[in-house]
Amino acid sequence: MKNSVYMTWAKYHAAARYNLANSGILGCDLSDLPISLADVALNGPNHEGYAPLKEAIAAKYDVSPDNVVTAQGTSMANFLAMATVLERGDEVLIEQPAYDPLLAAASYLGADVKRFARRFEDGYQVELADLQRQLSPRTRLIVLTSPHNPSGVTVDRQALQQIGAWAAAQGVYVLVDEVYRDILFDAAEPVAARLGPQFITTSSLTKSYGLSGLRCGWILCAPELAERMRRLNDLFGAVGSVPSDTLAVAAFRQLPLLAARTRAMMDANIKLVHAFLAAHTEVLDCVVPPSSMIVFPRWKAQPDSEVLHDRLRALETSIVPGRFFEAPSHFRLGFAVKPEDVAVGLQHLSQALRDLS
Ligand SMILES: Cc1ncc(COP(=O)(O)O)c(C=O)c1O
Repeated sequence: MKNSVYMTWAKYHAAARYNLANSGILGCDLSDLPISLADVALNGPNHEGYAPLKEAIAAKYDVSPDNVVTAQGTSMANFLAMATVLERGDEVLIEQPAYDPLLAAASYLGADVKRFARRFEDGYQVELADLQRQLSPRTRLIVLTSPHNPSGVTVDRQALQQIGAWAAAQGVYVLVDEVYRDILFDAAEPVAARLGPQFITTSSLTKSYGLSGLRCGWILCAPELAERMRRLNDLFGAVGSVPSDTLAVAAFRQLPLLAARTRAMMDANIKLVHAFLAAHTEVLDCVVPPSSMIVFPRWKAQPDSEVLHDRLRALETSIVPGRFFEAPSHFRLGFAVKPEDVAVGLQHLSQALRDLS
């Protein structure tokens, strides 16, 4: 397969007046990011990633710029990381449920995709025994998201360390997509890449900062692996966009301001969604992370949330049907848009659940 079914749907069918399908904070406009034209360069030295941007990313995580590879969003960061470490026929273990482009990228690269469970019943933590059972001499890579898309759950630190110990013993890499991490603000643990050279972290300015348009993504990993990724990137885009990278440097200078914007919206929205879920336990089961932009409730009334999605469409509201995450009775609820829109979207959801239950 040379496409991601979910990505196509997300691009063309997720938008709505009350968008509860989106998983990241509402996109910034120019008034949210104080910049001037003087911040932007059209051209410049960018052979190995724009140096000031790599420095800004490295400073954020307290690592060296040698540990940083820049990429077009977390999307390209994930693809580049996988393409660097995987050979055709290698086994890759990917969490289930998973963000579809991760599965599609591994399949596209000719990897043999195996799955390990993150079950609703276990609060979407990694089922360690299942993962260990799947490890084989052909395993080259383990892939997970933390916080998890679709549930918003952060992988338990000890579990991550255990996975890292197994990976190190078998010469396996662990790719942790941490694009949702900064919604935890100060409570976030250090990124997985700080745990050892077997770990690879990917992220971007998309989800927590509303700057998807910059396509500013990155990979954090051991310097030798980072160098291999940069060389492979010579075959893809060769160099990044200098206007975009210079704007990203300006954005890094304003990161506290952007984080405050996110926090103001999310403090209100998290309260709204937690109250909504508490009021709907008769029809919905949900693992509720303390802080997240997404949750993945199970609808008790019917086996397929597509009908709920269809009903909501008539109310100008969108959610992501669970079939895109291999769990049709669930749906992904995103709540990182304006609080007033989240409030109306949740009213519509309540009405649709009542009508259909
Ligand atoms: C787990 C995960 N990784 C990556 C992405 C894509 O992010 P970016 O805009 O940084 O490419 C998404 C977007 O939904 C995502 O959920």
